[in-house]
Amino acid sequence: MHHFEYRDGKLFAEEVSVTELAVEYGTPLYIYSAATFKRHFQAFDSAFDGLDHLTCYSVKANSNLSVLKMLAEEGAGMDVVSGGELFRALKAGVPAEKIVYSGVGKRASEIREALAAGILMFNVESQAELVKINEVAGELGKVAQISIRINPDVDPQTHPYISTGMKKNKFGLDIENSLKAYKMTMDMDNVEAIGMDCHIGSQLTNIDPFLEALDKLLAFYEKLKESGLEIKYLDLGGGLGINYDEEEPPHPTEFGKALADKLADVPLTVILEPGRVIAGNSGIMVTEVVYTKSNPTKNFLIVDGAMNDLVRPSLYGSFHRIGEVVLHGREVKEYDVVGPICESGDFLARERELPGIEQGELLALYSAGAYGFTMSSNYNSRPRACELIVDGDKVVVARKRETYEDLIANEL
Ligand code: LLP
Repeated sequence: MHHFEYRDGKLFAEEVSVTELAVEYGTPLYIYSAATFKRHFQAFDSAFDGLDHLTCYSVKANSNLSVLKMLAEEGAGMDVVSGGELFRALKAGVPAEKIVYSGVGKRASEIREALAAGILMFNVESQAELVKINEVAGELGKVAQISIRINPDVDPQTHPYISTGMKKNKFGLDIENSLKAYKMTMDMDNVEAIGMDCHIGSQLTNIDPFLEALDKLLAFYEKLKESGLEIKYLDLGGGLGINYDEEEPPHPTEFGKALADKLADVPLTVILEPGRVIAGNSGIMVTEVVYTKSNPTKNFLIVDGAMNDLVRPSLYGSFHRIGEVVLHGREVKEYDVVGPICESGDFLARERELPGIEQGELLALYSAGAYGFTMSSNYNSRPRACELIVDGDKVVVARKRETYEDLIANEL
């Protein structure tokens, strides 16, 4: 459910006309719905009420400071993967003890920043990283709380670029090396193992791979106990999918119930790191048709949004639903919706059936709230888009559109 709906044939974001926003703030334009963000967070979080748990929103999905503040006010903890994301989460007012830090290549400076802030735990992805954390924590006179990210070798049945929990992936440690890493912590003065972690992939549309991973982690938990290690947290990562097209992802309550059944007698606090399921359908990207063009085999809609603004179609072949901002009811045609960037890979949709669209009209790309703006770039020296948050009839500029001056601000 989201709050982007037509009223008398015109698209609204909550109480505000999308056309009016596009006229005032220009295009391409990201528009987020505050009510949708909050509802998604609460629906997700409450799905796990049967368990002692902490929901750590995954900042990479949408890291706008206003979005993070809004979620922090709803009670969210955060999952960060860089010093920059940690900086944002702290700026947004997230208590450090609700922050977990994942990622395969944390630098010493980033480890230092996280220790100074006092985060809940590092999800450690190699033995070398463990050694580094122990060393940095020692320098600061602190004890770092850690989980080992266990790679359970489970196929999440999703796009290969966003599968993370298989043997061939760079993430985490296999079961055997994980056990070695936990044993290493027993001889370390500045590291304390407090949890187990895994994240097997993103846009999962079935809960079975999660449950398969969980079974492996629970078996591993028994081994840890036999080794004399008592942990408190079980971090299951993120990855729950959303509906872009015709997928039918499980509702968080289905996941919550399955976890509650499996974990009824397990005295661990569960951590969840949802990103897409909170942010994805909370945002749209609006773009204007600059030109139309047809050749003998194709109709093109050349729009002012491009792969630098929303890279998912180019990078993963992802589908984003496209709709008119004002319904005209013209006859349906097949279009390639392409951006102005000098690459054939610059498209937002291919061979897409849409009602006849004319030059100057606006299109909305749905499900753009996650991995949309955060993956945007300045390629072709295109200033990045403006981000708005609509809350009822209020509009907040969450990020100003970049200017040409911004493009060169850090250059000689
Ligand atoms: N936790 C960890 C350690 C992660 O690596 C990720 C996502 C998440 C949580 C959140 O996963 P989510 O709930 O959003 O599925 N750019 C890709 C998605 C990459 C996901 C990377 N890791 C896309 O546009 O589909």
